[in-house]
This record gives sequence, C-alpha cells and structure tokens, in this order.
Amino acid sequence: MPRTTGDYRIATSGSEQVLAFVPRPLPPDDPALAIDGQLAALLAEATGAIGRLKVAAVMVPSNDWFLYGFVRKEAVITSQIEGTQATLQDVLAFEATRTTDRPDDVREVCNYIDALTYARREIARPKGLPLCVRLLCEVHRRLMKGVRGADKDPGAIRRSQNWIGGTRPGNARFVPPPPEEVPQALSDLEKWIHATDPLPPLVRAGLAHVQFETIHPFLDGNGRIGRLLIALLAEHWGVLPSPMLYLSLAFKRHREEYYRRLSEVRAQGDWEGWTAFYLQCVREAADDGVNAAQRLFAQLSRDRQAITNQPTATVAAIRLFDQLPMHPIVTLTLAMSLLNTSKPTALKALDSLRKAGVLRETTGRRRDRVYAYHDYLKVLTEDTE
Ligand SMILES: Nc1ncnc2c1ncn2[C@@H]1O[C@H](COP(=O)(O)OP(=O)(O)OP(=O)(O)O)[C@@H](O)[C@H]1O
Ligand SMILES: [Mg+2]
Repeated sequence: MPRTTGDYRIATSGSEQVLAFVPRPLPPDDPALAIDGQLAALLAEATGAIGRLKVAAVMVPSNDWFLYGFVRKEAVITSQIEGTQATLQDVLAFEATRTTDRPDDVREVCNYIDALTYARREIARPKGLPLCVRLLCEVHRRLMKGVRGADKDPGAIRRSQNWIGGTRPGNARFVPPPPEEVPQALSDLEKWIHATDPLPPLVRAGLAHVQFETIHPFLDGNGRIGRLLIALLAEHWGVLPSPMLYLSLAFKRHREEYYRRLSEVRAQGDWEGWTAFYLQCVREAADDGVNAAQRLFAQLSRDRQAITNQPTATVAAIRLFDQLPMHPIVTLTLAMSLLNTSKPTALKALDSLRKAGVLRETTGRRRDRVYAYHDYLKVLTEDTE
C-alpha cells in the first residue's frame, strides 16, 4: 500500500548536508491501516497465542518465577540484537555470585532489567510518571548507566544529527529527523499513545515501536528502548498482565527482515507489511513462551517428586528447591540467606539437591562453589547462547 509517511528535510551534519526524514504523526492515514483479510487472520492468531501464554502463566504455582526467567531472557536477547556478548547464563551467574568475566556486557543486561522494573513501577504508582517522553528519558538514563553508555548522553534527547548504518550521514541507510524536529515528533507520539484509536492495542504497540525507531531520539539505545516500549504498552493496554513475552527473540531470528520492514514503512509507507511481520513475531514469541513454560513446569514437577521421594530429603532441601526458579544458580552464601539458616543446614540442602541430580556444581573448586539447576537452565537459556 504506497502512502507517504513523512518528508525529507535538508539537515547539516558537520560540514555535510544530508536528507533527514521527518515522520508524520501516527496513526497511518491516506489510507488508514485496515485490519482485514490477511492482517485480521494474523491478528487472530497472535491474540490466540497470547491467550495461551496468559493461561500458561496462571497454571504455574507462582507466576513470579515464570516472569523472572522470561524478563531476563528478553533482557539478554534485546541486548544481543546489536552486539552484547553476555548470555543468560552469565547474567544469572552474576546475580548469584556478583562476579563475572564480562562486566560491561552483563551490566548492559542488568541495566535493562533495572530500567524495565523502574518503568513498570512508575506507571503503577499513583503519583509516578505516566508512560510519557520523560519516563522514556528516565528509562534511558538507567539503561545507559556505566562505562559504555557514559558518552551517550544518558537520559537526554539528542541534540545532534544521528544516522543508522554507514560511517557518516552521507552514506547512511537511514538519517532520522534533525534534532530540532525530535521534541515535536516525540510529543506527537506521546499524544497518540494516550488518545483513543480504533486500532487494536496489540497492533498499536507495534506502530509505536516503528515510529520510535524512525524518530531515533537518543544517541544510542534506541533499539532497546523501542522494544521495551512494546512491552510497556502491551501491559498498559491490558494485552498482557506482565512483560512475559520475549519478543526480541523473534526480532533477532528475523533480524534482516526486522530492519527491512522498519525501512519500508518509511520508504513506501508499508505499515501493512510491518504489521504482518510484527504479528507473526508476536505469535512466534508467545508460542515459544508457552512451550518453554510447559517444559519448565514439567521439569519442576518431576524434580520435586524425585526430591520428596528421597529418604534423606530435608525440609530445607525442599524449601531451597522451591526457590530455584528465581535462583537457578546458587552459592552457599545465597542458599543460607534464602533459607535464613546456618551453614551446615544450607550445605546439607545443597548436597541433597545435588545427590538428587537437580543441582550440579559448576566450578570444580573446593571453596566458593557455584551450583546450577542444569536441566532447568537448559530449557530457559535456549536460543540465548
Ligand atoms: N532501517 C532502519 N530504520 C529504522 N530503524 C532501524 C533501522 N535499522 C535498525 N533500526 C532500529 O535501530 C536500532 C539500533 O539503534 P541504536 O543503536 O540506537 O539502539 P540500541 O538499543 O543501541 O541498538 P540495539 O539494537 O543496538 O541494542 C535497531 O535495533 C532497530 O530497532
Ligand atoms: Mg546501539
């Protein structure tokens, strides 16, 4: 569907003159985006898959553990899309031991988790920030905290021309709006988010992502903030009760198409093409989540049975086991604090879980040992290595 989605403006970058793109405000118009035919079918499939994911989340005894793993999985993959090397295993190990071989990469992932947690809390708090540009700046500040992001103006809308792909704006794949156009474009996006619109919320979250990427308001981190925006909007609009969809995995699997679809909205006004792609990614991610949740749940049930069947099982061992979904990597110190118990009792619990084949010691050391819930991690960390 060819339509114009914005205008090119001459902008200056250093000594160069370039054509920067200024998008029109949402929603798509002339013609409006119609959810019928193939798009209606894709929407129905995506919505059905989300429904199954919601059911899977309430079937498990505590949906905190489910969310715990899935949020971390999303954090790792969204950070991997453009280069972070940290794996989910690295992040979980860091959370247990506070040490890591990849401090910068792990920090980026932990920053994402902090940023998401912060944003959800603000939106939920009666006097907190609503989902607005200021909130996104605060989210950006948290995402960019630390060594690598320090020169990326954390928390601030850019005041210079940026570009995507290429070594300078002149040979870039895409030149976002000139800095003086960014505040207005963001404010239009914010208004549309809070306006009533007949399009389904799930679709709207995808449109908001594209618009955000097109504006590219920050010096770095636009991909991660824009993907986080989808999660926040989905929760805000009641599509999902919590950020349990790890959509970035589908974007990563289809990265070339992801970038191409973003470009084609700008170049050809192809909002339909983007929406079809995005809805398929939602469906893929939701199906993936259901599948993982079912396997994790089955693993937990099997192992709990095995432990309680052991003649030497202690109450402490069972209590520790029940904490493993939110601490799939544990140390003696962590076990002592989780159980609020003495060293010998915690050691005995660890040993009992090890003998039952649930935990594996990963370091081979005599001191500072680290135990991993191997079978559980194998499922959770799929596609994140
Ligand atoms: N052709 C394009 N048009 C619009 N947006 C694009 C295009 N190609 C990529 N993008 C978006 O730009 C993001 C990269 O921007 P940036 O480096 O600011 O974000 P980031 O969070 O650091 O990236 P990332 O994906 O690097 O983790 C991509 O993840 C994607 O969302
Ligand atoms: Mg980047």
